[in-house]
Amino acid sequence: MTCAQSAPADGEFFRDRTVVVTGGASGIGRAVVEALLGARARVAVFDLRPDALSGLARQHGERLRVGAVDVADRPALEDAMAAVADAWGGISHLVNSAGIIGRRAPLAALDEADLERVLATNLKSVFYAGSAFVRMGAGLDARSIVNMSSIAARTGGMAGNMAYAASKGAVATLTIAMAKELAPDIRVNALAPGIIDTPMQLDSIGDPAAVAALSGIVPLRRLGTAAEVAGAAIWLLSPAAAYITGTILDVAGGR
Ligand SMILES: NC(=O)c1ccc[n+]([C@@H]2O[C@H](COP(=O)([O-])OP(=O)(O)OC[C@H]3O[C@@H](n4cnc5c(N)ncnc54)[C@H](O)[C@@H]3O)[C@@H](O)[C@H]2O)c1
Repeated sequence: MTCAQSAPADGEFFRDRTVVVTGGASGIGRAVVEALLGARARVAVFDLRPDALSGLARQHGERLRVGAVDVADRPALEDAMAAVADAWGGISHLVNSAGIIGRRAPLAALDEADLERVLATNLKSVFYAGSAFVRMGAGLDARSIVNMSSIAARTGGMAGNMAYAASKGAVATLTIAMAKELAPDIRVNALAPGIIDTPMQLDSIGDPAAVAALSGIVPLRRLGTAAEVAGAAIWLLSPAAAYITGTILDVAGGR
């Protein structure tokens, strides 16, 4: 018996509100994009693989903008966000979903370039996007940010993924600090997904059977879906979560 749910769509609140989603071409970010488009939001996606969204772009026309942007490249990300704010009158919400696990390696074999890439993609990008977001929404109401942490922040992650786990711990701490600084105008929360069935898991582990076997360590006895994490993100962005800020919400099947 499973208890899968699909992402809810709040038709009225998100209608014509502008949302930037980093990493929105795949997995959890993509599910967030689909839920927001279903709720009639205007969505800008910055990803290294924006071509993956061409089908969605055809379907949603001017409601979806996609850009080939490396979130670790601060000037490029700021320029892309400024173009969205100019075109659509500011940015109401930000979902920082871009992330990488990095190359699996023991601490003794730490590779400097890989460490830098993981920290820049998963952590520095949240500073960069958050900083630009704060400056690009004067006059807009009910603004909010959802960052993507991970339960790896408290478990230490899978063996060999130390940089990833540390980056996600820092994202959780940064979320709390951002929430305090940006209150009462902007709410900031994070999700801590557990093991979610997305391309990231398969890319990291390599074998679909090994990914599926991970369900054995989850109390709910299955992997989560991208849509279930997206549902939590949409909820945190919405007025239903109006009194929630600085929270790290597990979406982890009890892990
Ligand atoms: N899948 C899981 O089990 C899981 C668990 C906990 C946390 N998370 C986090 O959720 C987020 C989404 O993960 P996912 O599972 O959907 O992974 P995914 O690989 O399916 O999607 C990640 C997206 O980020 C993009 N991206 C990577 N580096 C980028 C960069 N430098 N600039 C722009 N875009 C970049 C990728 O192109 C991809 O489209 C990540 O931050 C991840 O760490 C995932």
